[in-house]
Amino acid sequence: MTLILGLESSCDDSAVALVTSDRRILAQSVVGQNSAHQAYGGVVPEIAARAHVEILPGLIERVLADAKLSIAEVDAVAATAGPGLIGGVMVALLAGKGLALAAGKPLIAVNHLEGHALSPRLADPDLGFPYLLLLVSGGHCQLLEVRGIGDYRRLATTIDDAAGEAFDKAAKLLGLAYPGGPAIEQLARTGNPEGVRLPRPLVGSGEPHFSFAGLKSAVQRAVASDDFAPADIAASFQQAVVDCLVDRTRLALRTSDAPALVVAGGVAANQAIRGALAELAEQSGRRFSVPPAWLCTDNAAMIAWAGAERFAAGDCDPLDVPARARWPLDERAEKVRGAGVKA
Ligand code: KG4
Ligand code: ZN
Repeated sequence: MTLILGLESSCDDSAVALVTSDRRILAQSVVGQNSAHQAYGGVVPEIAARAHVEILPGLIERVLADAKLSIAEVDAVAATAGPGLIGGVMVALLAGKGLALAAGKPLIAVNHLEGHALSPRLADPDLGFPYLLLLVSGGHCQLLEVRGIGDYRRLATTIDDAAGEAFDKAAKLLGLAYPGGPAIEQLARTGNPEGVRLPRPLVGSGEPHFSFAGLKSAVQRAVASDDFAPADIAASFQQAVVDCLVDRTRLALRTSDAPALVVAGGVAANQAIRGALAELAEQSGRRFSVPPAWLCTDNAAMIAWAGAERFAAGDCDPLDVPARARWPLDERAEKVRGAGVKA
């Protein structure tokens, strides 16, 4: 059994966790910054980076104290090294380097997307490789075949907005607070998902990718028309996103013989999306796995867990490992027009 300290600061959540290789979360904490960014309707990189500098050291101290452990008892330090807002990424990475150096521990520079991609295996001990992963977060919307640690093949990505970005933009148009995903999901509960006719970009197309920009423009027109109740717009928007995700994932399932379908990333916290993907898995005879909602949105348990998987594979990093704003999971995948750059 090994014990990994995980550190995360690539967007607007400062997070620290202590996780064991046998899937126990000994302590963890996530501190968000929603109130600091709400006035701007999105994350302001400079504000986020400064807040991580203030919050992260105290969180490390508290998480170690909660677990009644010292840094000397940790086997390795895992820190997110990208992709994300570079000022924020540097905070956890440098904190991790400092701890590793001072305590004489190995450092594991974790790709934030790998944290999301492997998070289902922390919650689901029976989930083996390979699996087809729908990774939906604030900065990404991808279908990946996860074949093993560090072995990812991208089958599809977005040609414009990420799924979470679409939720955040639609929420802003509806005058809802950031982050938009949870706000839309809540408002959608009282709305009619067929109340507003909205497009489903690329649905039915043989091209494997995602697109959400046209959906956002349609929401903009619906809001501007004053003809629809906000709850109906929210419910119809959410249904359109569900339909796009299901259709694109169904297409990818035709080209992958992975026995399991998995969904992860912040948008996977959405109940309608979880339900629709579970149904698709059942229809296509695949095992379905999704982490609990708290493990879908940004956290450090997934970073520590990815660190534990990498550590078990003997895969650590030197202290001069760089921070990366862009860091695709599948480095061989072709760039497509407009793909998101955030984590
Ligand atoms: O993975 P995550 O926490 O951060 C990134 O790595 O981007 O994802 C954040 C995104 C935001 O766009 C947020 O609006 C969305 O996930 N999100 C949701 C829900 N909870 C968070 N989207 C839809 N429904 C939700 N319940
Ligand atoms: Zn994330």
